[in-house]
Amino acid sequence: MKKQVYIYRSFERFWHWTQSILIFFLVATGFEIHGSFRFFGYENAVNYHNIAAYTFIVLIIFAIFWHFSTGEWKQYLPTLKNIRAQINFYLIGIFRNAPHPTKKSVLSKLNPLQKLVYLGLKVMVIPVMVISGLLYMFYRYPQKESIQSLNIDSLELIAYVHTLGAFILIAFIIAHLYLITTGETITSNIKAMITGYEELESHEENISSKSSEENETGKEV
Ligand code: HEM
Repeated sequence: MKKQVYIYRSFERFWHWTQSILIFFLVATGFEIHGSFRFFGYENAVNYHNIAAYTFIVLIIFAIFWHFSTGEWKQYLPTLKNIRAQINFYLIGIFRNAPHPTKKSVLSKLNPLQKLVYLGLKVMVIPVMVISGLLYMFYRYPQKESIQSLNIDSLELIAYVHTLGAFILIAFIIAHLYLITTGETITSNIKAMITGYEELESHEENISSKSSEENETGKEV
């Protein structure tokens, strides 16, 4: 039997959508700085990129706090279980109407491929973007020539790393936009990230989380 389950909490949804807006904006202003097109004008693009970058860093700090204070970080612990089934599903099963190999629940809302990819973003790609971005900023502005204490005497490597990270994030966004349409229905994943609720198979774990949510919000689902 299926039930509406509260799967994404309010901070999680706020963090998700704010992060996506910021990343879109960072991509746009970043590639204007890169010289790919002209829209805001170079100077403005640099200023807007810096403002979005600082906002993104603040959001990341809150998100880290949230992940650890709620225990949600455990969602991203990678597992090899079911990984082959998940890959086969995306390559073959999905085109044959096969059932999803991983059942979503409140305590395990990510499939094994999502766990791997999201963990990679959180511990590698995003930190690399933040660190290379900050080095870029502080290379340019205070010292003008170099970050002497770090022995960085050229912007070239930093620029390559930062731009490579931007391309990886764009590849992720393209895959992500396609994959969000591959839930139980075309819109079920996006609706869940907007409202917090998703129709899931009801079992112990989801039922108990539903009742605790009811107690918290006083809402019947
Ligand atoms: C907190 C994170 C970030 C910081 C601190 C940051 C900072 C910077 C800085 C200071 C620059 C150089 C601006 C100039 O030339 O004056 C830059 C360039 C750029 N940024 Fe970011 N950025 C961040 C995140 C991102 C993200 C998430 C993306 C895209 C997904 C991105 C894409 C770019 C691109 C494409 C360039 C141009 C690189 C080049 O042509 O050398 N940045 N960033």
